[in-house]
Amino acid sequence: MIKKLTLSAISALALTAGAAFAAGSEGHTHDVDFSFEGPFGKFDQNQLQRGLQVYTEVCAACHGLKFVPLRTLHDEGGPALPEDQVRAYAAQTEIFDAELDDYRPRTPTDHFAESGLETAPDLSLMAKSRAGFHGPAGTGLAQLFKGIGGPEYIVSVLAGYTGEEKTEAGTTYYENTAFPGGWIAMAPPLYGEDVEFADGHSNDLHHEAEDVAAFLMWAAEPKMMARKQAGFTGVLFLVLLSVLLYWTNKRIWAPVKGKK
Ligand code: HEC
Repeated sequence: MIKKLTLSAISALALTAGAAFAAGSEGHTHDVDFSFEGPFGKFDQNQLQRGLQVYTEVCAACHGLKFVPLRTLHDEGGPALPEDQVRAYAAQTEIFDAELDDYRPRTPTDHFAESGLETAPDLSLMAKSRAGFHGPAGTGLAQLFKGIGGPEYIVSVLAGYTGEEKTEAGTTYYENTAFPGGWIAMAPPLYGEDVEFADGHSNDLHHEAEDVAAFLMWAAEPKMMARKQAGFTGVLFLVLLSVLLYWTNKRIWAPVKGKK
């Protein structure tokens, strides 16, 4: 019976793997060690601030973050900008206010702007929506063991341009080793030295890509640290409960199972 089950499990796995191979044009995603990985991982506040800068100075020209409230830039565990900086940051862009029937500067209670370029997807949830099934043949093993997910995919896309391009039906596509299908309609946004970091951190292509990917992970899951902490408390509690139940069980059955 067990043998049969194992066999069918193996063949099912082989089938899925085969299907994933057949699908072919899966892009290549490489691993990055982010500070927020693992059960005790935390967002790196400085990295989030640098990522915000890359997003603002480069990506925001086309992409929006319309689901992210600007006030969350002040949150502990996030970029944690001081309140006056959040206010100044918000006021850099305008929003149409129906009540005023006019444009006004944004305030921290508003959200980030929407995508300015129609074909550029909103990035609010991108790091989560592209978490995908990475690893050998799309099994998700690399995600489980190495934590490869959405942020790694974003880094890989940003650094995955080969330099080849082609134009089809009036749209230019750029060859990219990470984008499924191999050709993306986004021109390479980063070349390295696109921004100057105030903390003097390296601004080569890879560091910029990692910083903005970390920032987008925070945008997509701002409460990750709280979730991990709650999960850890939950596990501790369950362990304690298991021990107590074990002893209770022993106690209850002791008269029955004990010496006659
Ligand atoms: C000149 C405009 C432009 C800029 C600047 C730009 N993008 Fe894009 N981006 C696009 C377009 C257009 C697409 C859609 C590409 C497609 O679907 O082929 C896209 C798609 C994406 C995707 C989705 C890929 C997928 O799997 O669908 C990600 C992630 C992304 N951009 C991240 C970024 C980041 C991060 C930056 C800043 C470093 C950036 N983009 C800057 C235009 C831009």
